Amino acid sequence: QPPGSKVEDISLLRREDCRSKGGAPGFKVALLGASGGIGQPLALLMKMNPLVSALHLYDVVNTPGVTADIGHMDTGAVVRGFLGQPQLESALTGMDLVIIPAGVPRKPGMTRDDLFNINAGIVRTLCEGIAKCCPNAIVNLISNPVNSTVPIAAEVFKRAGTYDPKRLLGVTTLDVVRANTFVAEVLGIDPRDVDVPVVGGHAGVTILPLLSQVNPPCSFTTEEIRYLTDRIQNGGTEVVEAKAGAGSATLSMAYAAAKFADACLRGLRGDAGIVECSFVASQVTELPFFATKVRLGRGGVEEILPLGPLNEFERAGLEKAKKELAGSIQKGVSFIRK
Ligand code: NAI
Repeated sequence: QPPGSKVEDISLLRREDCRSKGGAPGFKVALLGASGGIGQPLALLMKMNPLVSALHLYDVVNTPGVTADIGHMDTGAVVRGFLGQPQLESALTGMDLVIIPAGVPRKPGMTRDDLFNINAGIVRTLCEGIAKCCPNAIVNLISNPVNSTVPIAAEVFKRAGTYDPKRLLGVTTLDVVRANTFVAEVLGIDPRDVDVPVVGGHAGVTILPLLSQVNPPCSFTTEEIRYLTDRIQNGGTEVVEAKAGAGSATLSMAYAAAKFADACLRGLRGDAGIVECSFVASQVTELPFFATKVRLGRGGVEEILPLGPLNEFERAGLEKAKKELAGSIQKGVSFIRK
């Protein structure tokens, strides 16, 4: 049967047509790794996002089930499932935003870098597909180690001649979400009222919360600073150990990824003042990639915001973070160049 001839296909196309005639803003979003621990709740949250008109769910397993399930939600986005490598190109064609949580997660005792060997190859394949089928899409990269997978993606896009550093964003939002939660606990206030910039990267000491720049302005004792920095840097490990072999953060991560994707979509729509932390190509330090606050807009990253004033504790942390980051970035670049 030719594609597009089934009753379901025709009704999906009709719904999309109907939406675009209504003038509703609608973006096409693909989720790669949609059947996983992060992928499934993230699919649910993206299906609830009114800015999404089409949601493509791609994985190498189980997408028919996830798609049937999510597709029954009575929200606007049209959902389509794609299974396995032969369907990757169809999943990606025409997409405005591609979110990538594909790959293996940590088990107790593992670092994010231990995932490199498996996830580097997965990210390369998926990014080759993006370069071919939707080279102008914004990419939100979640697969770990983010400090290396973002440089890998950049190298793949450079090779394909499609690299736009403004459109490639490593997702570090979970570090900010955790920082907001833990700081709010210490201050005894609502986490929704707290904004903690977290810069550097997304692994261990590269996660650098700037507690001197917390909004609302506040001060901490030396003991509180040490406790908070350590808990924010090891928040992922806290979840890995609590799950005892059943994976890493998935639900809080899906929440964080949905929050970040929504910010990217609002930027694409042209909303003003959208600022989030993200690991991107940057000149804030001497390293080629670094996470800071960035302003999002129609072209992706419109502006990289400066680090701001750091105290002595943060300056020492920055030096440690840069040392580790340099190695992780180089590892990613070499994986493609070798
Ligand atoms: P999971 O194992 O539950 O799900 C991963 C999914 O990726 C599976 O459904 C699997 O079939 C799929 N997959 C594997 N190879 C694929 C390929 N070639 N193409 C498409 N899909 C493929 O893992 P989970 O818990 O969802 O984590 C996913 C990734 O996200 C891990 O690398 C993890 O370390 C990372 N992560 C990142 C965070 C961040 O803050 N950036 C936070 C938490 C996890």
